[in-house]
Amino acid sequence: MKTKITDLFNIKYPVVCSGMTGISRPELVAAVSNAGGLGILATADLRPDETRPAVNKVRELTDKPFGANVPFIIPGAEEKADILIEEKVDVVNYTLGTGGDLIKAVHEYGGKAVATVTNHKHALSAQRRGADALIVTGHEAAAHGGDVTSLVLIPSISDAVDIPVIAAGGFADGRGLVVALSLGAEGIAMGTRFMNTVESPAHNNMKKLSVEKQIYDTIYSDRIDGLPCRAIHSKATERLIKEKFYLISALYNSREAARAFGFPWLKLAVGILLSGYKKSKQLAKMANAFRVMRIGMEEGDDKKGVFLMGQVTGILKDTPTVAEVMEKIVLEAGKVKNELSLKI
Ligand SMILES: Cc1cc2nc3c(=O)[nH]c(=O)nc-3n(C[C@H](O)[C@H](O)[C@H](O)COP(=O)(O)O)c2cc1C
Repeated sequence: MKTKITDLFNIKYPVVCSGMTGISRPELVAAVSNAGGLGILATADLRPDETRPAVNKVRELTDKPFGANVPFIIPGAEEKADILIEEKVDVVNYTLGTGGDLIKAVHEYGGKAVATVTNHKHALSAQRRGADALIVTGHEAAAHGGDVTSLVLIPSISDAVDIPVIAAGGFADGRGLVVALSLGAEGIAMGTRFMNTVESPAHNNMKKLSVEKQIYDTIYSDRIDGLPCRAIHSKATERLIKEKFYLISALYNSREAARAFGFPWLKLAVGILLSGYKKSKQLAKMANAFRVMRIGMEEGDDKKGVFLMGQVTGILKDTPTVAEVMEKIVLEAGKVKNELSLKI
């Protein structure tokens, strides 16, 4: 397969594994890159001193190109972005912020900078700042998809920008890849599908839930982690959404988040309080969500844990290896193309 993003990233197939907190660990990232796609390492829940070893671990497991994801809303993101730049990671994928001088620094060593966006304003701003490509994330997506569904968002943003678009949100198979390409995208990024693979570090209960849940079983709310976010609809998710005393809970939960980010708790707490009323409410919710999402991913506890998953979980029927996912996508896309040529 050959598209603008296979050329841009020097990969075989236009298929990206999204940077997923707690999931896109070196083993999964390398498996996707080895299978011909682009694996993206998540750094949100890595401490700065864990970030370089994680990059090195990916390099031990693959000699193929890979990327790393930095959400700029997370405290300490700048330090981790600097490490990715020092390490000359092939593709730096930034989100929830402009990244400051990140694009320039990535270009200086010949890397590619990719912005994850959910609307035109951020897509056009990333293009103006010099991003090489966009991951455009529709409403169906796990975690922070936009207000508009991929079917409408992808062609609309593809028409509005000159840089390649990678479609995310609701993609899991070869049919989806063909649709994305026909809507103007140059490839797809998948989160939920790669979360539910053999190489994914998610707890087996999370993978099992992902097979059992239907397309109707997720909920999208800005009260899960303070930003519009999609997760499995469960009693634990409802508790999080309805929590009244979340600012008080955040005092306790932010300690766990601070430890995970390698950020002094006091600095984090003061930073949250000084960030303004709206942002501090958002960050407080994020601290609370961080704990229950970790319980979901690592302990697989569906009574206490919250599971980020996209609507596409409802069409997943199995837990294959990454290589099987990739092989099936390629075969299916070819079959769909041939069938379409008979119809159109
Ligand atoms: C468990 C989980 C964790 C995620 N963490 C992040 C993250 O740290 N950074 C990010 O940009 N997106 C994150 N996402 C969102 C994905 O990058 C991607 O946008 C989404 O999964 C695409 O939709 P899909 O699940 O329908 O494939 C996460 C998704 C999941 C399922």
